[in-house]
Amino acid sequence: MQINEVTGQEIGATVEGFDHTAASPADIDAIKAAVYTRKIVVLKNQDLAPRQFLALGELFGRPETYYEPMYKHPEVEEIFVSSNVPEDGKQIGVPKTGKFWHADYQFMPDPFGLTFIYPQVVPEKNRGTYFIDMGKAYEALPDDLKKEAADTFSRHSVRKYFKIRPSDVYRPISEIIEEVDTKTPPVVKPTTFTHPMTGETVLYISEGFTIGIEDEHGKPLESDLLHRLFEATGQLDDTFGHPNIHLQTFEKGDLLLWDNRSLIHRARHTTTPEPTVSFRVTVHDEHKLYDEAA
Ligand SMILES: [Fe+2]
Repeated sequence: MQINEVTGQEIGATVEGFDHTAASPADIDAIKAAVYTRKIVVLKNQDLAPRQFLALGELFGRPETYYEPMYKHPEVEEIFVSSNVPEDGKQIGVPKTGKFWHADYQFMPDPFGLTFIYPQVVPEKNRGTYFIDMGKAYEALPDDLKKEAADTFSRHSVRKYFKIRPSDVYRPISEIIEEVDTKTPPVVKPTTFTHPMTGETVLYISEGFTIGIEDEHGKPLESDLLHRLFEATGQLDDTFGHPNIHLQTFEKGDLLLWDNRSLIHRARHTTTPEPTVSFRVTVHDEHKLYDEAA
């Protein structure tokens, strides 16, 4: 197994010759270390059945099964399926997922540290996913903005981008929103936290899931701070030309693994949809999102 940093950019490493059935604990630790420092690692030339994909993920920690059943792989429930390609005339998983800036499970009480994406059907043209490293983005903020964000708390919810399920047809929208807020009530987390693996300060907000910013007593801030933070970090740039934005491309056989604490990401869907299928496994590593005592 060989790990190579992608030259000429801060994000990215590739791993050649990785075989999950033969990997030693030291191999897994080395890949994890690369994920935390380089943020995205691509395991090359992987040819895995769904169960093998899950087994690979389990080497890195405890898998988290997605809470909404419609995303689940029919045979391996720990796999989240994003697909616009029907199988035998049946929709498997959910099409057009994640077309907004977010960190996975940011709206949940206990987000996981690692996301694995294994593309199954790779689009011909518009392949790739956009990423922003919110540690680097925080570092690049002007001092006064850093100061304003310090000691504030952010509120996250799935309500803005919750996807209507087939079973929701003919239900009143207000009832669905009420159900979303009951099942996944908004969570409040510090706007910045210390990354437990690297010591970096991470600005933990996203345009897709962060719905408010407040002081330590839970009182919403009257300023437009959240908007200014989205703007400064590149999340409002619809041209995707902001220097913080990294486009990660992939090819068949690539398995992407990234640092879900530091990175926010956004799917690159276009108006002319191409067949796209990808499987996702998500894993809790040795730490919570951040250490409470810190
Ligand atoms: Fe995602």
